[in-house]
Order: sequence, then structure tokens, then C-alpha cells
Amino acid sequence: MIKLPGLIDPHVHLREPGATHKEDFDSGTSAALAGGITMVLAMPNTKPPIFDADTLDLALNAAKQKARCDYGQFVGAGPDNAIMAASLADKAAGLKMYLDSTFGELRLNDMTLWQPHFANYPKNYPLVAHSESRSMAAAILFAAIYDRPVHIAHISLKEEILLIKAAKEKGIKVTCEVCPHHLFMTSSSPSGRGQGEGRMEVRPRLATQTDVDALWGNLDVIDCFATDHAPHTLEEKDSDNPPPGFPGLETFLPLILTAVDHQNFTMDDVIKKMYTNPKKIFNLPDQPETWVEVDENASYEIRAEEQFTRCGWTPFEGWKVRGKVRKVVLRGKTAFEDGRIFVKPGYGKNIRG
Ligand code: NCD
Ligand code: ZN
Repeated sequence: MIKLPGLIDPHVHLREPGATHKEDFDSGTSAALAGGITMVLAMPNTKPPIFDADTLDLALNAAKQKARCDYGQFVGAGPDNAIMAASLADKAAGLKMYLDSTFGELRLNDMTLWQPHFANYPKNYPLVAHSESRSMAAAILFAAIYDRPVHIAHISLKEEILLIKAAKEKGIKVTCEVCPHHLFMTSSSPSGRGQGEGRMEVRPRLATQTDVDALWGNLDVIDCFATDHAPHTLEEKDSDNPPPGFPGLETFLPLILTAVDHQNFTMDDVIKKMYTNPKKIFNLPDQPETWVEVDENASYEIRAEEQFTRCGWTPFEGWKVRGKVRKVVLRGKTAFEDGRIFVKPGYGKNIRG
């Protein structure tokens, strides 16, 4: 048995308000606990999107009633809410800027719309950019010009990790996260069990083996791991217009633990990238008396039917992994043990509360 700190997932989509048939604060935070995660930061591309005081309250009220682990809620950067968003910084997990195509309505195409956000959002709180390839380069330039930190969500490409490495060497305040699916799958990974290609739709798209090798070859440049848990139902994924996104909360730690001891990857890296670094980058509070017990030798196959997520599937169905979460203690209380959740909806606390 190994003991880990309560893990942090800084990038999850819990679909509340507006799409609770995919997930809600209850099912999503149950999935988090089952995955050894005691703190989640929720993205704002909901219906309606979270972009002002009223919509932030809508999400935070739902979370307060329903969340079983601790949580924060991002505010989305819109075309004309920079001052408003900055004024909410004490209540929000951070500011999320969608600079590339995504699921939902929040997208800033024109760079003049980026400026007020980089200029106004308080520097002690995180500004997270969904920005791929050349727009990622632009986001890093904005961070340099406005002399503030920027965190790049879900990087997946060789050109991205190499540019971030170079930017860090120049002292630019850029950090980044990588998702398990971009570390363990490529665009030629089989979609599994003869299912439709819609299941493999995800943003950023799965990349090439060269890209995957570049991520593993530059592990020290990766600050955090994050799931980008983006649940959509199987019916939606197998439809003619499949939305992009994979669930990931319950497969996060087992996939990562299975990779330990390969490619110079150690338990120290796991703790740094799933606890120490995200805590620092996202300015997150301590969780006293909180830990995760993992049976590191338990080998098993991933099964969607055993998961708490409401979406009902996983792209990792049938994968053989090593390392099972046995018990999660959150603020002194057993929250999860041997497949069962023991804390009630509402036990979770707002990390900016
Ligand atoms: C995300 C979603 O479904 O909300 N999908 C995804 O493929 N990652 C949107 C996003 O993170 O851009
Ligand atoms: Zn996302």
C-alpha cells in the first residue's frame, strides 16, 4: 500500500448548469474521489457559460449543494467581460480563455479581445489558455508582454512542448499541463471494439507518435497532469455529430501509476505533477488530514461499468493497469473506500470559499 496526498485535477468539465444528463457536481465529484482526486477545478463552458457574477453563483450554488470533494469554478473570458471577470477573481478558480475551437460558446477569435483579459486579471490567480500550436505561441507572447503567468491547458504537440521549454529558459512565466490520453494514445490508436470514430473525437486531437515521444522526452517541462474530463454520453459520441471529449477522472491515477518506472518516470514525478505543482500554480489551499491509499500491486482491467461518471463509457475500456485506489480520506473523513462513496453531496468545499 502506498500513501499519496489528495490529488488535484485542475481541468474538469462537470456540465452543470445545463447538461446534467452527461455529468453533474454529484456524479463528477464522486468519480473524482474514486480516482483519488480530492480537489477539482471546473471549466466554464457550460449552458449558460460561466462569465459573470450571476452565472458564477449558479454554478457555485449547485456545487455547494452537490459536490462531494473540494472544488473551484473557472470564469470564462468573453468578448466584453474582462473587468467583470477580474472583479470575480477572489471567488473563481481562475480565468479560462478559449483561443481555439472548442465545445461550447466561449471563443475569442480576435487578439484585441485577449488584451484586456491579460491586462486586468489579477496576477496571483491563474489565467489558463486553451491555445494550440501558433495560438499557444501568441498566448505565451501575451504573458511576456503583460508580465503575468499563463498556464497552457492540455498540450499535445512536439512543437508546443519545445516552445514552452524555450520560453521557460527565457524566464517567461509559462506553465503547462498534459492529459493521459495525449501521453498514452495517438491518432492511430484503435477506437476499440468496432465502435464509431466519434468516440475518439477529442480537443486537442490525438497526435502522432513523434508528438507523444516529445512529451515523454521532456517530462521536466510538464508542470502538471490534468484529465480534461469531458464527459458526453455514448449516444452523443456515436451520433452523426459526435461532440469532442473523453471522461478521465477514474482512469487518471491508474494510467499514470502504470507508467511509473518507464522512461525515467518516478513516484516523485507523480506527486509533483498531481499535487505539489498544481497547488502552487493555481494558488490552492491546504487540505488538512487528507490522503489517498493505493494498492500499487493490484492489476486489473478498466471497465466503464464500474465507474461513477454518468457518461457511461471510457476510451480506455479493457486496458490493463496497475494501481488501485483503496481509500480516500478528505479532511479527516473517509470519503471513498473499496468502491463505495462515504461522504454526502455538499461535503465538498469551495477552494475560494
Ligand atoms: C471539451 C468539452 O467537451 O467540454 N472537449 C474536449 O474535447 N476537450 C471542451 C474543451 O476542453 O475544449
Ligand atoms: Zn477542457
